[in-house]
Amino acid sequence: MKNIDSFTHVRGESLFVDDLIIRQDTLFGLCFDSPKAHGKIKSVDYSKAEALEGVVRIFTHKDVLGENQIGGIIPDEPLWAEDEVHFWGQPIAFIVADSEATAKKARALIDIEIEDLPVITTAKQAKEKGSFINAPRSFNLGDTAASFNNCDYVFEGETFSNGQEHLYLETQGCYAVPQENGNIKITSSTQGPTQVQKTAARVLGVAMHKIEIDVIRLGGGFGGKEDQATPWAVMAAVAVQHLNRPVKYMLNRHDDLRMTGKRHPYSSFFKIGLTKDFKIKAFEAEFLQNSGAAADLSPAIAERTLFHATNSYFIPNVKTTVYSCKTNLPPNTAFRGFGGPQGMFVIESAIAKAAHEIGVNKRQIQEANLLQENDEFSYGQIATEVQARSSWHAAKEAYNLKKLEEDVISFNEQNNHFKKGISLMPIAFGISFTNTPMNHARALIHIYQDGSIGVSTGAVEMGQSVNTKMLQVAKDILGVSSDRVKLETTNTTRVANTSPSAASSTADLNGKAVRMACESLIDRLSNVAAGMLSVNKDIISFKENMIWVDGKRSDLSWNQLIMQAMLERVALSENAHYATPVIHFDKSKEKGHPFAYHVYGTAITTVTVDCIRGIYEIDAVKIVHDFGKSMNLGIDIGQVEGALAQGIGWMTLEEISYNDDGRLLSNALSTYKVPDIFSAAKTIETIPLETGGNQMAIFKSKAVGEPPLMYGIGAYFAIQDAVKAFNKRYTIQFHAPFTPEKVLMALYEK
Ligand code: MOS
Repeated sequence: MKNIDSFTHVRGESLFVDDLIIRQDTLFGLCFDSPKAHGKIKSVDYSKAEALEGVVRIFTHKDVLGENQIGGIIPDEPLWAEDEVHFWGQPIAFIVADSEATAKKARALIDIEIEDLPVITTAKQAKEKGSFINAPRSFNLGDTAASFNNCDYVFEGETFSNGQEHLYLETQGCYAVPQENGNIKITSSTQGPTQVQKTAARVLGVAMHKIEIDVIRLGGGFGGKEDQATPWAVMAAVAVQHLNRPVKYMLNRHDDLRMTGKRHPYSSFFKIGLTKDFKIKAFEAEFLQNSGAAADLSPAIAERTLFHATNSYFIPNVKTTVYSCKTNLPPNTAFRGFGGPQGMFVIESAIAKAAHEIGVNKRQIQEANLLQENDEFSYGQIATEVQARSSWHAAKEAYNLKKLEEDVISFNEQNNHFKKGISLMPIAFGISFTNTPMNHARALIHIYQDGSIGVSTGAVEMGQSVNTKMLQVAKDILGVSSDRVKLETTNTTRVANTSPSAASSTADLNGKAVRMACESLIDRLSNVAAGMLSVNKDIISFKENMIWVDGKRSDLSWNQLIMQAMLERVALSENAHYATPVIHFDKSKEKGHPFAYHVYGTAITTVTVDCIRGIYEIDAVKIVHDFGKSMNLGIDIGQVEGALAQGIGWMTLEEISYNDDGRLLSNALSTYKVPDIFSAAKTIETIPLETGGNQMAIFKSKAVGEPPLMYGIGAYFAIQDAVKAFNKRYTIQFHAPFTPEKVLMALYEK
């Protein structure tokens, strides 16, 4: 089953927001945003901009008829700034003009006077000043203080991991069109159609049923369009409300980079205690999350950092605390892994530090502590169907780790100016929204009278091929060929109250709903077929566009059956609702069973560092991954490879840089390096771990979007391994990304 979008993608025929045919009277929007990171707005003079020919109107917070508020988890973010600005790039006004060019000219004519206030750009500064988004959270298991006293080794250290730009190929954008009676239809490039609908209704002061959101597909999201696709759509909707004309707003890349939040940078501190035989007995970590100027999704992301703070290891005594630190950066937001990668980098750093100080191979400590069946996570969930050890040992054997390690050693003995490094990276990633109430989805299936089928779900197609998986579910359950099934756009009038497509859970949640809806249809259609064939309903099955009786193909076709069902006035549409069973979490105790299941795997990364220049190449990443029973290995391996490249980019190349005034310096692709074909691993091998799959996953095919990103963390430690081979005086550090500049400094550190 190929990705159903590949044909139109390669021909350039796939439709995105910017490809829509627009109405002739369409106007174009553009944000006027803050040129300072923190200050009081003394005055804004729009008169010259308003006087420009072609400018229709400039909207500000004064034009909001509902609430000037877009905060999701915490109501702390105005759509447009009122008296103060809190980050460089914060929207202040929305220019609507007859063309994008006019709007841009008008923007340059706006004069603003801002009285500077002190700027905080780092989480550490924020913590010192007591600047937080909300109260800190802590997960605790056992007694770390007592346990450290009984450890043979105790080490402490500090880590930093930088942010990451989502760099979806398609920038943020929307097209809002007035309908009759003040209704508005918005086509949006969002992962969260309901979030856009709800927020637009709130800001416009109208009921949600007046706002329809339609999503065709996204040119990438990666979390960057989970919450942050919302403001642009809402601004356009406000303009439509006042002007009763369509408004389109596509952000150009420069504006998108400046105005949107990114992966959260984290400054963290750890303390790790081990016994002589390398058992980790106690682990403490304090995570300082650089949340930016408003909450956005930061509290939820902070929570996932705690959930993944011990990665795939069992540690009996754990104390972890996370602070969401309020700074004057654009609000940082969801990004593939959602705080998990930041947590996992810290435990891996702690293990690397311990190994370095003790003088053993890091993997010996990793291996001694991998999770086993019935181990307890710090948040109370008991690990079951654990694949930490099985994937680790499968990787060691399948890729002949012994030989790989010997090759590295002999290469390093023979070469002075090039050094190789190797590292193993195990992962354990929990699947479900950690906010239990979000784990639900719906599907609406229509069988048309000619036998063709339309499937609507709450799933947003963003390149991850979720629509292909939904199609597979429908065609398998209904027993028809794939050309009979069409995936409809994601639309709030067909499927309402959706959770965003996020948390790697979209295929599971929506797929289960598709399955339920199809099974209900099959039940009804079986009655019709039983009548037509004069047999018992229980021996009817559906396969290859035909009806089968007792495992034998009958002469009755799907199309004939559907026509007869029509004549018998049987309902050919079905709506189903799926809510993940079992999961729960009690925030007052910070204990529960938040995840439907975990995804495991192990990656072996080898690198070669050029010790003259500090540059490096990723030689190979060899992975054993727990797909469960993959329903589409082509798609799933694509997800592994994409996530891996993104994870390696985060750990090695991509360096977000703000100056002390809070201005984004890495504001273009000339100053922000993303992985290209030359920086991709020269070899990527992925072997599916053989398991029975997991019942909570759709067709036992486990969620795959986020978990493999964290294999990229292995690149950091493989490079570090090579640096250690070159420079015996290197003081071990954990400061990602490990850019060539930093590698060079480490190589020649005295
Ligand atoms: Mo994803 S980072 O849960 O949008």
